[in-house]
Amino acid sequence: MMYLRFFALGVAWVALLQIVQGSLFPNRYAMSPCTLKKELEQNCQVKSTYGKNTTSGSFKGLLMNFGETKCRVSIEQCYPNTCYSFRDLTAQLPTDFLAVGSTGFFKQFEIISGGKDVTMTTEGVSFVATSSVVLVEYSTITCQEFFRYHGRVPYQLCNRPLEAITPIDTRGPNALSCSAT
Ligand SMILES: *[C@@H]1O[C@H](CO)[C@@H](O)[C@H](O)[C@H]1NC(C)=O
Repeated sequence: MMYLRFFALGVAWVALLQIVQGSLFPNRYAMSPCTLKKELEQNCQVKSTYGKNTTSGSFKGLLMNFGETKCRVSIEQCYPNTCYSFRDLTAQLPTDFLAVGSTGFFKQFEIISGGKDVTMTTEGVSFVATSSVVLVEYSTITCQEFFRYHGRVPYQLCNRPLEAITPIDTRGPNALSCSAT
């Protein structure tokens, strides 16, 4: 009898702990589906499966997930020997301190073929197209890594997409420059 009562209490505790953990840390370590897809209606552009932030006054940035891992996207109709770039909008979010080693929203942005000279900073990413089709592989930081740099951002951001990057730009006023080789 005594044993049964302790057993029931134990089960209730475990269930309660799971509920508390689940709501405080939703998907903090989870991998997310890839969001960036090729965009053929514009030259050298990508789109997000979630679309853009359409709120007026926003940066009209592409919505992406934390924890996207080894995603491949083909960027097409690019002009060879041209510098392309996009800005990292997560730099706008509240930051307690800018930690050394923070690379911004992307932790990987690699050219598989058709480009060179990737520069990845907290400001954004730039690369040079060497062919009309640039195949890229990227990973975004996990929510847990993000909070090392943005301690004040509410946890709810973990389980919904965030306005992460601007569309790809070249020579526009917001474009980043490419490093020469
Ligand atoms: C969209 O933009 C608005 C205005 O800047 C901002 O308050 C909101 O958080 C943005 N939405 C997302 C999902 O980032």
